[in-house]
Amino acid sequence: MSKDVIIACDFNSKADLMTFLDKFENEDRKPFLKVGMELFYAEGPAIVKEIKARGHKIFLDLKLHDIPNTVKKAMAVLSALDVDICNLHAAGTAAMMEAALEGLTRADGTRPLLIAVTQLTSTSEERMQNLLIDRPLDEVVMHYAKNAKDAGLDGVVCSPLEAGKVKAVCGDAFLTVTPGVRFADGEVGDQVRVTTPAKARELGSDYIVVGRPITQAADPVQAYHRCIREFLGGEVE
Ligand code: C5P
Repeated sequence: MSKDVIIACDFNSKADLMTFLDKFENEDRKPFLKVGMELFYAEGPAIVKEIKARGHKIFLDLKLHDIPNTVKKAMAVLSALDVDICNLHAAGTAAMMEAALEGLTRADGTRPLLIAVTQLTSTSEERMQNLLIDRPLDEVVMHYAKNAKDAGLDGVVCSPLEAGKVKAVCGDAFLTVTPGVRFADGEVGDQVRVTTPAKARELGSDYIVVGRPITQAADPVQAYHRCIREFLGGEVE
């Protein structure tokens, strides 16, 4: 898969999502979309099928974390939705990640890409101490990324600021999917460690996940184009 911008569709209803997607109706390039818990819990699996039918690729961001058998069976259900990327928490252990891959793999051997959340960007070293994890955050992220790689996963969700180091530890082909992206002249909102699309590219992100800078923009299509231009640079098709 080549580098791309993924729009985080953090809407709580199909109506709001469709109002947003209608703005892209005349675009040649159908944006890659992220469906998270909010939209999925509000509208169920049907929303995934509707988005697919409109020609978009989908990153289904449900961050599974349970016993291996449960995650394996849940992944088999998600795999049938024919999404492009699924995810889980690396903290669920190597056994859970391996089971997830098994569940995700279809009878014909194909499967969506599977990536792991290492540590949420809302986690701090102080908060990890409360979980009795006293190693530096960076070390934990790299260790979890290595566990994901060893379990056979395709990549991780991480901060753009960690992307280069993840590549150094897990290899260049290991995907880095990075939220926390803002335009240089834009609102930061509740994100803390942010980078611009151009900087994320420089740091080695394969996919940037961008929500509010596009969804809340006065002109979302223009904001999406700007993101594509800044992130992909000369590689725009
Ligand atoms: O609106 P914004 O660009 O901040 O959206 C970022 C998206 O990425 C949201 O859907 C958020 O849940 C998700 N995300 C994140 N940080 C993580 C993992 C996911 O911001 N560590």
